[in-house]
Amino acid sequence: MMLIYLCFCSQVLLQGEIYEIEGNIFRLKINEAAPLRARYEVPDVLIKEPTTQKLSLSQKEGGVLVLTSVNEDYKLRVTANPFQVELQFKDETVLSMNSNGLLYFEHLQPPPSDRYSLWQEKFGSFLDIKAHGPSSVGMDFSLHGFDHLYGIPQHTESLLLKNTSDGDAYRLYNLDIFGHKIHDKIGIYGSVPLLIAHKPDRTLGIFWLNSSETLVDINTKAVPEVRLQRAVPLTDVRWMSESGIIDVFLLMGPTAFDIFRQFAQLTGTQALPPLFSLGYHQCRWNYEDEQDVKAVDAGFDEHDIPYDVIWLDIEHTDGKRYFTWDKKKFQNPKRMQELLRKKKRKLVVIVDPHIKADPMYTLYSQGKEKGYFVKDRNGKDFEGICWPGSSYYLDFTNPEVRKWYADQFAFKTYKGSTNILFVWNDMNEPSVFKGAELTMQKDAVHYNNWEHRELHNLYGFYQQMATAEGLIKRSSGKERPFVLTRSFFAGSQKYGAVWTGDNTAEWGYLKISIPMLLTISMAGISFCGADVGGFIGDPEPELLVRWYQAGAYQPFFRGHSNMKSKRREPWLFGEKNTQIIREAIRERYVLLPYLYTLFYRAHTEAEPVMRPLWIEFPEKLETFGVEDEYMLGKPVWLGVQYSPYSMFLCLILEDAISLDSICCVSQACAVGELYLDDGHSFQYLHKKQFLFRKFTFHKNILSSSCTDESGQYRTTCVVERVIFLGLGQQPTLVTACSKGNEPTFILLHLVILILLHSYVYIWHI
Ligand code: NOJ
Repeated sequence: MMLIYLCFCSQVLLQGEIYEIEGNIFRLKINEAAPLRARYEVPDVLIKEPTTQKLSLSQKEGGVLVLTSVNEDYKLRVTANPFQVELQFKDETVLSMNSNGLLYFEHLQPPPSDRYSLWQEKFGSFLDIKAHGPSSVGMDFSLHGFDHLYGIPQHTESLLLKNTSDGDAYRLYNLDIFGHKIHDKIGIYGSVPLLIAHKPDRTLGIFWLNSSETLVDINTKAVPEVRLQRAVPLTDVRWMSESGIIDVFLLMGPTAFDIFRQFAQLTGTQALPPLFSLGYHQCRWNYEDEQDVKAVDAGFDEHDIPYDVIWLDIEHTDGKRYFTWDKKKFQNPKRMQELLRKKKRKLVVIVDPHIKADPMYTLYSQGKEKGYFVKDRNGKDFEGICWPGSSYYLDFTNPEVRKWYADQFAFKTYKGSTNILFVWNDMNEPSVFKGAELTMQKDAVHYNNWEHRELHNLYGFYQQMATAEGLIKRSSGKERPFVLTRSFFAGSQKYGAVWTGDNTAEWGYLKISIPMLLTISMAGISFCGADVGGFIGDPEPELLVRWYQAGAYQPFFRGHSNMKSKRREPWLFGEKNTQIIREAIRERYVLLPYLYTLFYRAHTEAEPVMRPLWIEFPEKLETFGVEDEYMLGKPVWLGVQYSPYSMFLCLILEDAISLDSICCVSQACAVGELYLDDGHSFQYLHKKQFLFRKFTFHKNILSSSCTDESGQYRTTCVVERVIFLGLGQQPTLVTACSKGNEPTFILLHLVILILLHSYVYIWHI
């Protein structure tokens, strides 16, 4: 670590720390050297204190320090006056900080005597009193040679970030915006302050670890490059946060996959979802009662459409008291769950963070008594309005509250719940009706006396963390949880899935769902989806059908609709449309083992499941802006279709016809992987009960080997069929053999199916 002191505005001394972190990451932290009180440093997002490496001082003269990285590839040139840091790779400047002199730090001061200073602000009728005064921070970064930027979800915007010089900055501020507009830089439900820049030979990331309201300005220009005698792109990025400190991680790649790994090294990888949650989910606000649930469930069977999960929205509760049931509509929730269990299906119920003000409601009375609610600026419990009317908000930033909340999911406490019940966290920006911008006052006060403004973007992150913890606990640590959250932050991937919130049943929202999901995926959260059909309004049948076809290839696949929308179960739009939707959902199930394998890679290697083309083709300029096509996994692949009993291998060979939009033609051989485990427990982790196989087709031999020798899992599954696409000519002989001591994959009976142009040859052997 290198410590530097910056004298700023002649009054305040800032302290800067520069670290090199293992794995090609640099960190710059700037704080006041002696603040009047501690400034907020985001806790609980970094999975551990990063392992630092020793930067060596290679030069020190004339107000310039040069620090060299351990591998000697990178140099940090720190200039004293004006303060600037240049990051060079093999003598070429990749990134510079404060080269536009926009570093600023509003230092904490004693309260002023006049009442109308910057210590308070008005938003309409709302008054925000800044107990500790204005405390914003900001800095600029220049990215040399880069003009393609991505990331910083969540916005209803294009994949490529736009120049903001003549418009609004990208805003990171978690808000509940019903019917949000398309192509807007305003913040919605979630924020991940990770920006990714790409050029053909390098990808880099800037992770600005700050959970207060944040703005990001982007300005790309061309600058003359003397050596090359031409103009080259340069992008200036300016980050500004309302409070906290400057804590920025520079992820140096150099590839996009390195950036994903580096970000995961700091914030964790995607939790491995239980297999059922990758199936199709049927949701509506609301499925009215037990009868309704039964009828919808039966509808899927009658129409021969596979599905795994039915969802209950807020109306299932007793007056919006979460963890309870409406006793008239859901007289016997366990019976209902037993019916679903028999068909191996699951139930997801909504659990919002606001707690109805009702002394007879245990969560309220206990929460109040224990002092577990967020406080207002006067020290009283913060009261807001949400679905139940007058409500109080649990302070999930307090570890004791999280533990208590997690305990609410215990089967004996959550009456009527069984182990097929999973959870949906909604309204956790948090949504406060009649609040400024429909959220909590920034001057509300949390655990350890931190103002809400410091940690606003973390509120939903903490609720999902506590919920996931609760579901793990109720199974004594054995079962993987499934928790969907609307609000999120960097690191939310560790706790489950997210969705894009209240979209509208219009074509534009279907289109924008792709760049939105790609952006969220690149920010570490692979398990993401958008409401199929559009939440608000009524989709015309073709839109609904097309949305199913798109959603089937997105990581989280759920149909959902608003209470004012007409019913739209997949069979309500005529036989022809039912058939197309059935096919789309079935296609999803055919791909399930492939998706599960991709999720395993997301979990272990931080590779996004859904990824933009440029990540796979980093040198192909024409892919950089593509946002209506994407990849699920790698371009060269061998697909696997799988059921508990048998497995199809699908090989796509040179000169093959394209099978569908997710695959591309392979080179001379085909390679693929299959990950298998019990689909629901942590045994894969604790007992290494999994199989990770690699399949290769090379020199006319298809073989299977172990990708991870440490895994062991017994399956009765057999390879039933091998499908070759593009073999070129009809084989004269096919032989199959299996190694004696490899009982895990038994080739019992095999059908080889070869697609030669449009002819199909089948051998039974
Ligand atoms: C808002 C959510 O975004 C939506 O999905 C849900 O149906 C409603 N809240 C009611 O809970």
